[in-house]
Amino acid sequence: MNTLLLPGNAPDTAQTAADILKAGGLVAIPTETVYGLAANGLDPEAVGKIFLAKGRPQDNPLILHISDASEMEKYCHHIPEAAYKLAEAFWPGPLTMVLPAKDLVPKCTTAGLPTVAVRCPDNAITREIIKLSGCPLAAPSANISGKPSTTTAQHVLHDHDGKIDAIVDGGSCRVGVESTILDLTEDTPRLLRPGGITPWDMYPIVGEILMDKAITASVEKDEIVKAPGMKYRHYAPDCSVIIVDGDLIAAKAYIKKHFHPGNRVLCFQEELDTFREFAPLAYGAEKDPDSLMAGLFAALRELDDPSIGTVFARCPRGSGKALAVQNRLGKAAGFRHINPREKSFILGITGGTGCGKSTLLAVVEELGGTVIDCDRVYHQLLQYDKTLLSAIESRFPGTVTDGSLDRKKLGNIVFADKEALKALNDITHKAVKAEVLRLLPIENTLVAIDAIGLFEGELSELCDITVAVTAPEDVRVKRLTARDGISASYALSRIRAQRTDGEFASLCDFVLENNSTEEAFREKCLAFLWHTDIIKP
Ligand code: TXA
Ligand code: MG
Repeated sequence: MNTLLLPGNAPDTAQTAADILKAGGLVAIPTETVYGLAANGLDPEAVGKIFLAKGRPQDNPLILHISDASEMEKYCHHIPEAAYKLAEAFWPGPLTMVLPAKDLVPKCTTAGLPTVAVRCPDNAITREIIKLSGCPLAAPSANISGKPSTTTAQHVLHDHDGKIDAIVDGGSCRVGVESTILDLTEDTPRLLRPGGITPWDMYPIVGEILMDKAITASVEKDEIVKAPGMKYRHYAPDCSVIIVDGDLIAAKAYIKKHFHPGNRVLCFQEELDTFREFAPLAYGAEKDPDSLMAGLFAALRELDDPSIGTVFARCPRGSGKALAVQNRLGKAAGFRHINPREKSFILGITGGTGCGKSTLLAVVEELGGTVIDCDRVYHQLLQYDKTLLSAIESRFPGTVTDGSLDRKKLGNIVFADKEALKALNDITHKAVKAEVLRLLPIENTLVAIDAIGLFEGELSELCDITVAVTAPEDVRVKRLTARDGISASYALSRIRAQRTDGEFASLCDFVLENNSTEEAFREKCLAFLWHTDIIKP
């Protein structure tokens, strides 16, 4: 099929397009929001072609485009007063209203729903085409399903060249994101999709407006939602998008840490200079939400390239027009937001040697959390922290030779003498806490701090919750002799030099007793993380 490109300003374009539509064909039409892929909305066969061309799921209903508010009554019944008032205030314009459908609207247009979405677009040539075709036009956004919407005739040509009859070229779309959808079939109007007409614009006319859940969060595939289209992955370029919230300094620090060659940054014009090392693309100005709406889809299309890998995107805040950008960008990102400043969830883990803390730590790591092992931190500090080494040597003479610590010698001293152990701990805890603070990730993540001296070292103060891992003494002795190749009596002296399980338990918020098999303890750890809400599904 040869796809005609009809100039929007040519005198016979409207008639040519209308003739194609009357004959059951598909024409891409410009609107002030995005380009639509139009067919006669009362002709099931023509409407079926839209679904085919877009690869659109059959359960996703279409909007009927009318040329004048008076046509609303032809296709809808039980129209509330508010609908007339909204039409008066905002039509022609980027507002779609969901109302009870009359029987003449085919089931394939409404996807079998008893309601129909109607809107009168603010585009002269498109309203002229509707008038000349003598029927309402069913028109979804003209993009291939799941892809970013089309805001120029070239975008439509890219997606549908050779697959549809014609494209009317009306230049770039002024608003740039799809219309606001308001459901007026319940007692309180419900916003199903944010757009250029904001809740604040409509509030003086309709009062309270409910916000549909699907606007700001992902919806499960089989979950029932008011606007079926909101549950599908949408607007997404062929790479992964992560929204990086927060101030510019934190965002840059985060992106710098996670950026790989080929990745891109999608940002505000005001931020281009800050992100200059990270292949930035600006989609509009932060202080001008209209420009962000207008530029978003073209930018997402430019980033529609699997070789990019990851796009780090900046998203405006606010509840007016910014809401439409948050929704579209959110959907492109699967609502994945990173707030680099948001405090990590910090889990403090303690317990005596040989209790099995490492099992809990392994579970945290499997879940994508970060583990800070204070024993390891301590040993690393002993490699290069000269101040720490000289403090140890001056309290325990003869334990440090040539800048290296004789651990066995020190161990023999402190594990047999509680006073000596306390003195050593006082020295090391300060150094370890400073290093843990340095190691704590800034991004939003689960962190486990594992430390025998969680409380003495005041690391517990950094933690959201603390947990003690305990185990019967005979089990611990067995583990230690097997693991460290030491005698049972030495293992016992090490165990007894530490706090008792009872002491650890009374200090912590939670206790996990490791008194069965390793596998059973793993299960227990996992259940614990679920129940304490540490893992958010
Ligand atoms: O700005 C726009 O609205 C553009 C231009 C072309 O007019 N059109 C557009 O259509 O965005 P589309 O099909 O991409 O999105 C229509 C949305 C879908 O999420 C669909 O589920 C919802 O409207 N919708 C349609 N009829 C509905 C109904 N009866 N009840 C609830 N939601 C409905
Ligand atoms: Mg769409």
